[in-house]
Amino acid sequence: MKSIVVLVSGNGSNLQAIIDACETNISDGKVTAVFSNKATAYALERAKNAGAAGVALDPKSFDTRDAFDHELMRQIDEFKPDLIVLAGYMRILSNEFVRHYMGRMINIHPSLLPKYPGLNTYQRAIHAGDEEHGTSVHFVTEQLDGGPVILQAKVPIFDEDTVETLTAKVQTQEHKIYPLVVKWFVEGRLEMKEGKAFLDGELLGIHGHAGD
Ligand code: GAR
Repeated sequence: MKSIVVLVSGNGSNLQAIIDACETNISDGKVTAVFSNKATAYALERAKNAGAAGVALDPKSFDTRDAFDHELMRQIDEFKPDLIVLAGYMRILSNEFVRHYMGRMINIHPSLLPKYPGLNTYQRAIHAGDEEHGTSVHFVTEQLDGGPVILQAKVPIFDEDTVETLTAKVQTQEHKIYPLVVKWFVEGRLEMKEGKAFLDGELLGIHGHAGD
């Protein structure tokens, strides 16, 4: 059984989608622990309901980012993780943390990367007059939201869309593609080599699997 550790900061709807998938079609994967930098994150309730460990670590109790990440790593490694999943974890990671889990840490970001790394992606896409938006699952590297893309999902932007309606549409897609990528990883079909993502040994393009 592959041990999956999920990092969260909030609601945890993506965590829930992955927990549900592990109970149905990811037969060799299990969410063993969920770590949050916010004690009030609803995701911790979801962890408890699923029988996974739920741990809150408060950054304010540490003098530096490195000290926080060091303790986080120490506690994560007690669960012997095969895969680290960032699911709405809204904290910058130290380079040491990223290097420690390189090749076995993935993130979901609400934009069609490389477009719109960083925050407020929905507002930026609407204000730019874009006709489509979406979400990307990618391996995590030291470049913020810059690691190789594995899979994306697109949604149309209509004139009447707001940040709220667009978020809802994108999150519906996230709940489909994130568990699928976790399944690929658990089945040993996905890897990162020399900063590039491969699925079944095939190099993925800048928009990931079936990106064009
Ligand atoms: C997700 O939509 C994810 O794309 C986004 O946070 C949300 C978390 O929702 N992640 C980022 O913005 C990371 N830069 P959830 O807690 O319901 O899964």
